[in-house]
Amino acid sequence: MSRPAELPAFARPRLGFLGVGWIGRHRMEAILGTDVAEIAAIADPSQDMATEAQKLAPEAELGKSLDDLLALGLDGIVIATPSALHAEQATRALEAGAAVFCQKPLGRNAAEVRRVVDAARQADRLLAVDLSYRHTEAMVKITELVRSGTLGEVYAADLVFHNAYGPDKAWFYDPALSGGGCVMDLGIHLVDLALWLFDFPAVKHVSSNLFAQGQPLQSRNQVEDYAEVILELETGAIVRIACSWRLPVGRDAVIAVNIYGTAGGAAMHNLDGSFYDFLAEHNQGTTRSTLASPPDDWGGGAAVAWASRLAAGQRFDPQADLFVQSASIIDRIYKPRGPMGPPSL
Ligand SMILES: NC(=O)c1ccc[n+]([C@@H]2O[C@H](COP(=O)([O-])OP(=O)(O)OC[C@H]3O[C@@H](n4cnc5c(N)ncnc54)[C@H](O)[C@@H]3O)[C@@H](O)[C@H]2O)c1
Repeated sequence: MSRPAELPAFARPRLGFLGVGWIGRHRMEAILGTDVAEIAAIADPSQDMATEAQKLAPEAELGKSLDDLLALGLDGIVIATPSALHAEQATRALEAGAAVFCQKPLGRNAAEVRRVVDAARQADRLLAVDLSYRHTEAMVKITELVRSGTLGEVYAADLVFHNAYGPDKAWFYDPALSGGGCVMDLGIHLVDLALWLFDFPAVKHVSSNLFAQGQPLQSRNQVEDYAEVILELETGAIVRIACSWRLPVGRDAVIAVNIYGTAGGAAMHNLDGSFYDFLAEHNQGTTRSTLASPPDDWGGGAAVAWASRLAAGQRFDPQADLFVQSASIIDRIYKPRGPMGPPSL
């Protein structure tokens, strides 16, 4: 893909990448593929990771920390560090006047997310979060069906994300670095997709059951590896969410969204345990028709959208307030577990 013709040459923002492990490098490649922005700098305390990333962007300056990036007066910072670091790093970047594209979760709880969004509003800078599954062709098509009213009144949704393969990095299992287990990692995508499909209604009631290694989760100093959640929406609709790590499901992953309306249903699911390939279908009674199927290069969609909007001169987007709403649902998923409080850091 080439750079949109209407952008003036001076609008090519200079970006810094903070944290260039697996996902940071993937999103860097996606943005490099469009040429909408310049990758001006890379920072990672791991020399190996930084060197790998520099192979993709040989002109980029190398640093080790956020301070190294902020010293360069960049237009935007892309954050892909361990999850518990995001809120503080994003807030500092925004306060320094840089736009931010942050990996999920934006924060570990609604209070942290609110601080980031307030910093973006105050600085009048574009803030986006990598809610990448919204950008699958499957979810785009399903959302079109819902928004057009084709499914009638949608009254139920069922979303699952079981990552049976991993995560494969130690920090995910340390609450001080991850901020939580499969809910913080995967449930956050499902809560976002559910609220997005229903256009962010108020949520009347949240119930949840969280497990760690087959036992009810006792403390936020453990990470949950299995979660079942019910959201009762103020519209009357009911949403069921389940997510897990390392569940014995016989394949790498089970990822699915099923929604049911008075005039039809829609579903997406991953193919052959893949994390990347999805089939989406429009269901009517006992028959179905295909809405989307592989190939679909969706992973970098949110990153490219943010970089393109930044290049077009976009500032603070009040839609960022919805990140606080989603985070408050995550808080309520953890809260029924009793007076556990946040993980001790
Ligand atoms: N949006 C999605 O669909 C999606 C998919 C996968 C991962 N993620 C998120 O991306 C983030 C990174 O995940 P990953 O799998 O790439 O992890 P990773 O471990 O591969 O990469 C993290 C990188 O951050 C670096 N780092 C650690 N502390 C740092 C600091 N203080 N400053 C700068 N860099 C630091 C590490 O050295 C490492 O290179 C996580 O928050 C994860 O939840 C999002």
